[in-house]
Amino acid sequence: MQRQGVPALLAQLLGVVSAGLLAWVVPQLSRDVWLLAIAQGIAAALASRALSQPAWWWPMHLLFLPAVLVASTLHLPSELYLAVFILLMLVFWGTVKGDVPLFLSSPAVVEAVAEIVDDERARRFADLGAGVGSVAVPLAKHFPLLAVEAWESAPLPWAVTAFRSRSLPNLAVHRRSFWECNLAGHDVVFAFLSPAPMPELAEKVRREMRVGTLFVSSSFAVPGWAPETELEIEDRRETVLYCYRIKENMT
Ligand SMILES: C[S@@+](CC[C@H](N)C(=O)[O-])C[C@H]1O[C@@H](n2cnc3c(N)ncnc32)[C@H](O)[C@@H]1O
Repeated sequence: MQRQGVPALLAQLLGVVSAGLLAWVVPQLSRDVWLLAIAQGIAAALASRALSQPAWWWPMHLLFLPAVLVASTLHLPSELYLAVFILLMLVFWGTVKGDVPLFLSSPAVVEAVAEIVDDERARRFADLGAGVGSVAVPLAKHFPLLAVEAWESAPLPWAVTAFRSRSLPNLAVHRRSFWECNLAGHDVVFAFLSPAPMPELAEKVRREMRVGTLFVSSSFAVPGWAPETELEIEDRRETVLYCYRIKENMT
């Protein structure tokens, strides 16, 4: 998976250089620090796009310097910045490396996944990137005989899921990357990630999942695979669940 630290820094630097050039060409602009910050943000967002960063980086680049300026006018204690930084790091742990940030599945998605688990008569279920347990916890509660495994690499979401699992003996929560898990034992595997890891994840699914089991990807289809079913969920995001039956010779 593509690491995002270097392209993010490069995009910000290109934004600074572009804003500097703009101030040099139009000297009046150098007196308006807000305009320069906005110009830097626009240039950084465009650079981020040119560097093929995932879409959620563009607004961050756009708003980064203007947000720094706004914060500097508030005269907040410096410890607060450190605390917010640590909090964000604990939640969005792998995002800089290219992992997917935290978004939560809706209750309607959880209901649909529960129906799938029921229809499949699944005995073992995995959530790859479990977040705060929005799917894994209600499923484990609803199906006491279902063995649920939740994989989450970000410390804070993992801690929340682990805490929520304390009275659920059928829910195992791992603070590890799902790339390290083996999918061979699961009847239904669920993932709500992003388009970026799908080709590599499809390869893992194809290699490890047993024939006849089901891989469910929320919102993001596997390129080149025909889903057995596409469930359209009536939630705010209009989520689609792509359900892939594992067959011999999947390409
Ligand atoms: C979009 S959220 C989905 C959360 C939950 N499954 C749900 O449906 O509500 C994706 C989660 O995957 C986690 N994640 C991303 N890459 C991961 C990896 N390689 N291993 C484990 N967790 C990962 C992120 O930290 C984030 O919490």
